Amino acid sequence: MQKRVRVIGIESSCDETSVSVVQKNGNKIDVLSNIVKSQIEIHKLYGGVVPELAARAHSDIIDKLISRALIEAKTSFKQIDAIAATAGPGLLGGLLVGVVAGKTLAHYLKKPFIAINHLEGHALSIRLEQDINYPYLLLLVSGGHTEFTIIKNFNSYKRIGTTIDDALGEAFDKTARLLKMGYPGGPEIEKYAALGDENRFQLPMPLIHESNAHFSFSGLKSAVANIVAKNRCTEKFKKDLAASFQATINKIIFTKTQNAVREYKRVIKSKKTVKVVVAGGVAANKSIRRSLKALESIEDCQFLFPSIKYCTDNGAMIALAGIERFERKKFNNLNFKPRPRWPLDKNAVFMKGKRAVGE
Ligand code: KG4
Ligand code: ZN
Repeated sequence: MQKRVRVIGIESSCDETSVSVVQKNGNKIDVLSNIVKSQIEIHKLYGGVVPELAARAHSDIIDKLISRALIEAKTSFKQIDAIAATAGPGLLGGLLVGVVAGKTLAHYLKKPFIAINHLEGHALSIRLEQDINYPYLLLLVSGGHTEFTIIKNFNSYKRIGTTIDDALGEAFDKTARLLKMGYPGGPEIEKYAALGDENRFQLPMPLIHESNAHFSFSGLKSAVANIVAKNRCTEKFKKDLAASFQATINKIIFTKTQNAVREYKRVIKSKKTVKVVVAGGVAANKSIRRSLKALESIEDCQFLFPSIKYCTDNGAMIALAGIERFERKKFNNLNFKPRPRWPLDKNAVFMKGKRAVGE
């Protein structure tokens, strides 16, 4: 195995453009640069990501971010071993920008191009900071994804839970929009929730009595909409409804994570404490973190949270996935097409509504 590997990682699947240079030297991983340009200012006018605007914003800036990432990493193109770019899942326009940039660089520099599954990036992101052994359980909670996946080994993933409708971040964003709060909604809800009465409103907890690790959040959003329609939207009302929403989410996540940990133990058949990595933008929520920590004494598990900068979308996790693939010579052709839908677990069925499509 080559001793020192340096890879550029390009991320443009949603509303963050990011380019990073990561180095692996033996077992030591160093993030030499990780430049992230958020598009929040563009999308907040609309209360959600507008795909066409996202794609344009990625394309306006991608070349500058590549230059900045190399300068900050004090790295020349010559010192780069491969170019990795997120090729799915995500918004097609954005994916095309990153993938075309990556392929162009790879072709020009005569270096391998590596197409990365964005979810693999999230799955490995904890390894940018900690040397954690496989297997572990990933809880990914972001604006586009909500799933439990067993990371058995590199390139060996088993999804054991997912949402059958909205992603958790989407539920936070939609609730915040109904309550006329800013975008992104998660941090706003969290702030208001800390000041409100969580017992004032009763909200439904879809699928809570099912012993599986699947989620459903769309009924919760409808319940919030009904309450909003019947009340005056005062500051006190916003605080109390945000607190009730946050408390309901905490209970759902707690119960479903408990189910997922039990399922993990059945699949992995190990007596070791289960390591649960929580990644994605929603993992920034301190209230969810506190609530999950309480599960540690009940289920013999341990929660690990990557730093916020590696929880949200970033090029470093894509570069790291690129390094792992580079070391195994898993390269892609320059005709690789972006995949807007690309499950990490190839055998996972597509869940929509109450049952898996095709069942
Ligand atoms: O991972 P991320 O940055 O982007 C993707 O969706 O891929 O996640 C963004 C999501 C948004 O829905 C945002 O509202 C949510 O993460 N979020 C939070 C918090 N911070 C960000 N949700 C709850 N509490 C937070 N503190
Ligand atoms: Zn993401």
